[in-house]
Amino acid sequence: MLKGAIVGFGFIAGKGHYPAYLQREDIEIVAVADVTAPRLEAARAAIPKARLYASFRDLLARETQLDFIDISTPPHAHAEIALAALERGIHVLCEKPLTTSMAEARALVDAARAHRRVVFPAHNYKHAPVVKFAQQIIESGRIGAIRAVTLNTFRTTHAKGVPEWKTDWRRDRKLSGGGIAMDHGSHSFYLTFAWLGSLPTHVTAKTLTLERQWDTEDNLNAVLTFPNGFAHTFLTWTAGVRKVVYSLQGENGALVIDDDEWELTTGKSSGKTALEKGVIESDWMDASHTRWFNSMFDQFKAAMRSGDFVNRELREAVACIQIIETCYRSSAEGSRELPLAVDVTAL
Ligand SMILES: NC(=O)c1ccc[n+]([C@@H]2O[C@H](COP(=O)([O-])OP(=O)(O)OC[C@H]3O[C@@H](n4cnc5c(N)ncnc54)[C@H](O)[C@@H]3O)[C@@H](O)[C@H]2O)c1
Repeated sequence: MLKGAIVGFGFIAGKGHYPAYLQREDIEIVAVADVTAPRLEAARAAIPKARLYASFRDLLARETQLDFIDISTPPHAHAEIALAALERGIHVLCEKPLTTSMAEARALVDAARAHRRVVFPAHNYKHAPVVKFAQQIIESGRIGAIRAVTLNTFRTTHAKGVPEWKTDWRRDRKLSGGGIAMDHGSHSFYLTFAWLGSLPTHVTAKTLTLERQWDTEDNLNAVLTFPNGFAHTFLTWTAGVRKVVYSLQGENGALVIDDDEWELTTGKSSGKTALEKGVIESDWMDASHTRWFNSMFDQFKAAMRSGDFVNRELREAVACIQIIETCYRSSAEGSRELPLAVDVTAL
């Protein structure tokens, strides 16, 4: 039985993580910390046996038997909480974005190594059923080597946090670290690593703020150059419809995903193409993504078991932060293409 604590009992912890923990027999959530009394009340209602704390520092000081901590606060607090947990010898599962800067991300990698504890990012989109299908198609070789991917994420507004705290924190830079690039960029970027099978070397980006009452961007266009191809990412909080549309262009065909629907074209090089279509229910409309969580948690558990402290997912999370930071810089410099200078595989 793994003993865990949740820090930040808001939307994702209450609607996503905790319901998924409840489906498992190998985890007990023994403590919760949140800065807002009504959210501690919500935690008490959901997890009556858990000990409750108004600060993560009190929780860490009093809870001496924890195996892991689940950080589900807004991004500005991720690094501070993760570092404090690692110093006490506790493994860390951290929501995306891992941190709001490369300096913090590097500090987490160093601390994971120094304290011999796992830091694992919640890169849950990889665990969406239709995304797993895309990975199987790539590995089957049916569309050949992937040379280009496009990832469109349409949202009609920014996601809202629980009303009891600061529901619009995603539009407040000091809490979020940035707008849609910071909030959603990681999901798109780690998918590109998986689909192209490599890490990008350069990025060019343009951010845009259409809703000008906020200090964070609501649109991102970014092109990532890989050794073997490129990726185009478009993220928007000002769309007319909520959906994801992904395409994977291979040497011998293509896979197009439109939420749960997929369309597979094969046989391009033979001159005789075949088209297949299907639907894989993936719960895209459920922003808590509860159904994707446990397959991700299994990876975290395996990393804890094997002592894979600075694991591949952590390096990919650092790569995501580097790309997000570089997108902001590129956009500020007239969309100039910039190198991604830090080799995360060497960290
Ligand atoms: N992976 C995903 O699909 C996904 C989906 C939604 C949210 N998230 C991530 O989860 C995190 C939380 O997002 P949310 O939508 O649940 O936000 P939210 O506002 O609903 O919840 C945040 C909670 O953290 C609490 N909090 C704030 N600062 C704190 C601190 N210093 N210590 C303890 N508690 C604190 C708030 O009171 C609130 O209850 C973010 O990093 C977000 O990007 C990920």
